[in-house]
Amino acid sequence: ANNGPLAGKQLLITAGPTREAIDPVRYISNHSSGKMGFALAEAARLAGAMVTLVAGPVALQAHSDIKRIDVVSAEQMLKAVMSQVDKADVFISVAAVSDYRLTEVMDQKIKKNSTEMTLTLVRNPDILKSVADLPNRPFVVGFAAETENVEVHARGKLEKKALDMIAANHVGQADNPVFSSDTNALDVYWPADNGHEHIPSATKQSVAHSLLDIIGQQMSARKTT
Ligand code: PMT
Repeated sequence: ANNGPLAGKQLLITAGPTREAIDPVRYISNHSSGKMGFALAEAARLAGAMVTLVAGPVALQAHSDIKRIDVVSAEQMLKAVMSQVDKADVFISVAAVSDYRLTEVMDQKIKKNSTEMTLTLVRNPDILKSVADLPNRPFVVGFAAETENVEVHARGKLEKKALDMIAANHVGQADNPVFSSDTNALDVYWPADNGHEHIPSATKQSVAHSLLDIIGQQMSARKTT
């Protein structure tokens, strides 16, 4: 039997990209494969947690004991998260949510009748912040994909969104694409004592286990203080 700190806990995890429709055949999205979020969901299941996984459009399978909700857009992801968050003990926001969507989605396929065209975008809801702002919120873990000044930007997000923890990956380096790759490295930060732990480059499965260990430790530490 599993009696670690996450055993019996409810974990809510988002994974993958979102897709924002332009017209019936086109969309705006990003290169997230969902691998990091699915690895966390599986590692949490193995740690004895009850896992709900809200997934954007990805080509991955989850274990049948994981409750999976498939969504496409950021607005759908927000709705799915909000419908599940009440029972969650931990929320981990791994999804690469599109920050913007089209102000207006075209009903018909856009025709190419000019040399230039302009798309007008509007901000999408911030799912992570929506959860962090709940009065009765779970332990909230954000991810940060940064191309430079990783610690400064990650700690900035930690404070601005009042998160319990943030896991930063350094993206955009040729030797570590992170998006879509099978490996990752994380720098994990939390507010108490300027907490920091580095998870060296390894498979996303291995990195997921390490991150869950840190989450479990910090949740237990908080209970005893
Ligand atoms: O899916 P993979 O191919 O395995 O790649 C993994 C990953 C690189 C996508 C993942 O490790 C990662 O870094 N995910 C977060 C990517 C991201 O969008 O970071 P951000 O800095 O833009 O957003 C910060 C945090 O806010 C994230 O927790 C994000 O889920 C959340 N967010 C952002 C915008 C938004 N509208 N709603 C959100 O909840």
